[in-house]
Amino acid sequence: MSDNSFGHLFRVTTWGESHGPAIGCVIDGCPPRIALSEADIQPWLDQRRPGQSKFTTQRQEPDSVEILSGVFEGRTTGTPISLLIRNVDQRSRDYGDIAERYRPGHADVAYDLKYGIRDYRGGGRSSARETAMRVAAGAVARQVLGAGIRIRAALVQVGTHRIDRGRWNWDSVGDNPFFCPDPETVPVWEAYLGAVRKAGSSVGAVVEIVAEGVPPGLGAPIYGKLDSDLAMALMSINAVKGVEIGDGFAAAALTGEENADPMRMEDGRLVFAANHAGGVLGGISTGQALVARFAVKPTSSILTPVASVTRGGENVEVSTRGRHDPCVGIRAVPVGAAMMACVLADHLLRHRGQTGHDPRLA
Ligand SMILES: Cc1cc2nc3c(=O)[nH]c(=O)nc-3n(C[C@H](O)[C@H](O)[C@H](O)COP(=O)(O)O)c2cc1C
Repeated sequence: MSDNSFGHLFRVTTWGESHGPAIGCVIDGCPPRIALSEADIQPWLDQRRPGQSKFTTQRQEPDSVEILSGVFEGRTTGTPISLLIRNVDQRSRDYGDIAERYRPGHADVAYDLKYGIRDYRGGGRSSARETAMRVAAGAVARQVLGAGIRIRAALVQVGTHRIDRGRWNWDSVGDNPFFCPDPETVPVWEAYLGAVRKAGSSVGAVVEIVAEGVPPGLGAPIYGKLDSDLAMALMSINAVKGVEIGDGFAAAALTGEENADPMRMEDGRLVFAANHAGGVLGGISTGQALVARFAVKPTSSILTPVASVTRGGENVEVSTRGRHDPCVGIRAVPVGAAMMACVLADHLLRHRGQTGHDPRLA
C-alpha cells in the first residue's frame, strides 16, 4: 500500500496495524535544534489513549512513545525522527467473527475488494490505532511551531445534541471525558451516550479545532492552499465524512453583507470585526484564528445485526462484539488538533522555504 505519508517539508509517514507488535511514524524534514523529548509527546498521546472512560473503547493501551532516532541530547538533529508505540492489549479472538464477514460501514469490504487480503484483527491498518501516530507527529509539529501558535480542539456535537456556543469555555474542555467546552451539556451527553453504549449502538459527532496566533501568509495558491491541505488532513482521519472551514456549509445561506469580515486599521494594525472566513482567504492565512470543523460518522461496529455478505459471497447478518468506541468523535478531538499542527508546521516551513522569511518574526 502506498500513500502512507503526508506533508511536503514536514513530512509524516505512519506504519503499523491494530494487532501488530507496534505502530510508528517517521517525521522527515523536522528542522534541527528543536527541543524534543518523550515528555513533549506523551501528554498529547494521553489525551487520545483508549480506556479512559466508559464512553470510549475499553482496550487498555498505555501508548508509551519511544523516540528511536533524530534526537540527540534533547534536540532534533534534522535527520528523520522515528517514533514507536508498542501495542500491548491485542485481543484477536474478538475479531474471529469478522474474519469472513464484512462489517457494514467499516473498511473490511473495501480493503478486500482492493487488495484481496486483509489483516482483519482489530481492523488492521484501517483501525484508528494509526491515529495515535498522528497525535505523536502533531506533538513534534507543536514544538516546531512554538508556544506563540496555540491549537485547541473541542467536541461541539454528539448525535443530535449540540453545545450552546454562548457558554463556550475552553477551561472546561479538560474537565470532562468528552472534551466538551460547555459544562451544562456534559450531563446531557453523559445520559445520552450512556444509553447508546448500553444498547450496543453508536452515534456520530462534530469536532471543532481553533488555532490562534497563526501568522498571516501561510498557504500557497493555487494547489497548496492552507484550507485545502487542512481539509485533506482532517478528511484523512478515520470515520470523517465532512470538513468545514470557518462558517463552512452555513455560509451558503448568508448574504454577501452577512458573510463579509469587515476590516479596519487600529493603531497601525489590521483588525477584522468578524471571522466567517475561518482565518483563510485565497488559501492564505490572514492572521485571524484558523477555524475548522469535521463530522464523524457513528462507529460502524455495533451489536444490532445488519445485512452483509461473507468473503465467499454468502448473504448473512453481522453483529459486532468486541471493544469499540460508542462515539469515535471523542477520541478524534486530539487527533484533529494534531493534524492541524502538522499542516501548520508544514506550511510554516514551506513559507520560509519560498520567501526566506519566518512569518512569526514579523
Ligand atoms: C479515534 C477513533 C476511534 C475509532 N474507534 C473505532 C472503534 O472502536 N470501532 C470501529 O468500528 N470504528 C472505529 N473508528 C472508525 C474506523 O476506524 C473507521 O470507520 C474505519 O477505518 C473505516 O473508515 P471510514 O469510516 O473513514 O470509511 C474510530 C475512528 C477514530 C477516529
